[in-house]
Amino acid sequence: MVARAPIRKLSDAAIRDAAAMLRFGHLVAFPTETVYGLGADATNGEAVARIFEAKGRPRFNPLIVHVLRLDRAEALVRFDDVPLKLAKAFWPGPLTLVMPKAPGGRIADLVSAGLETLALRVPAHAAASALLAAADRPIAAPSANLSGHVSPTTAEHVAADLGDRVAMILDAGPATVGLESSIVGFEDGEPVLLRAGGVPVEALREVAGVPVRVAAHETDASPNAPGRLASHYAPRARLRLNADLPREGEAWLGFGPAGPEEDGVGRINLSPGSDLVEAAAKLFSALRTLDASGVEAIAVAVVPETGLGLAINDRLRRAAVR
Ligand code: TXA
Ligand code: MG
Repeated sequence: MVARAPIRKLSDAAIRDAAAMLRFGHLVAFPTETVYGLGADATNGEAVARIFEAKGRPRFNPLIVHVLRLDRAEALVRFDDVPLKLAKAFWPGPLTLVMPKAPGGRIADLVSAGLETLALRVPAHAAASALLAAADRPIAAPSANLSGHVSPTTAEHVAADLGDRVAMILDAGPATVGLESSIVGFEDGEPVLLRAGGVPVEALREVAGVPVRVAAHETDASPNAPGRLASHYAPRARLRLNADLPREGEAWLGFGPAGPEEDGVGRINLSPGSDLVEAAAKLFSALRTLDASGVEAIAVAVVPETGLGLAINDRLRRAAVR
């Protein structure tokens, strides 16, 4: 944490410094053509956890991953015909495509909140492209505002919300589109508009050559709530929350120094040192590993309701009530 993040005008030196900070796991706010993004190295789970911490998001909603070019996206997800057509027509630009993750990708589980899909876009902004090239890695970024505030279109907006929570704010003037990207997911190969945005649905329909359905909005408090495609990750095993110890036959998801030691199979500790950033980064992969061990139930230690603990507990509670 720094007292006040420097706002740096776009320059080669600013890009170089911003890229170095990202690679060190720090947060950098940067311009895109839609809105300013709050960026972190998408391959670093703890860096991604700091995004949620900085925004004060009470939930882990999945994030958009920004890549330099289409070929970088092709390494991360599986493209079918229709998404490929859309990508070729609208990238770089304000279109996000949600596609199944390719096996062996290095994107942190927290980025897609444990889902098997990944939301990707290639931004059309010289500063964003320069940063992606210099950092030489995918950048996860939600809009650079506090949770519940509107998306920022200038560096000053970002500074007002997050000035004390980011390492640097890269300034390239006002965002030109000023509206978030359109988000398209696929259900049995059919495109579904999950969020209206910078690319009009008519333009998407014309290029897709197939109908593009508009998803009904979830009656969720979140204005950005995507349609049912974004159903959250749920383990098969039952979760028993606020446990002191595992019972016979239960797996153990610990937090803090108490409880059984980690064995990496049926007993995992999210953070023996009670670090919520470390715990958030580990949460989804830990649930997956424990679930894969075939147990009926997973006993989960108490996680404090502070900072990132709110989002961690939100996920655990949703996974527990099924
Ligand atoms: O224009 C934009 O899209 C900006 C700039 C910074 O790129 N970003 C942005 O991110 O608006 P954010 O976090 O505010 O919105 C991301 C949206 C959320 O509604 C999220 O649920 C959806 O993307 N999303 C991300 N991954 C998803 C997935 N795997 N499945 C469904 N929806 C997903
Ligand atoms: Mg947003």
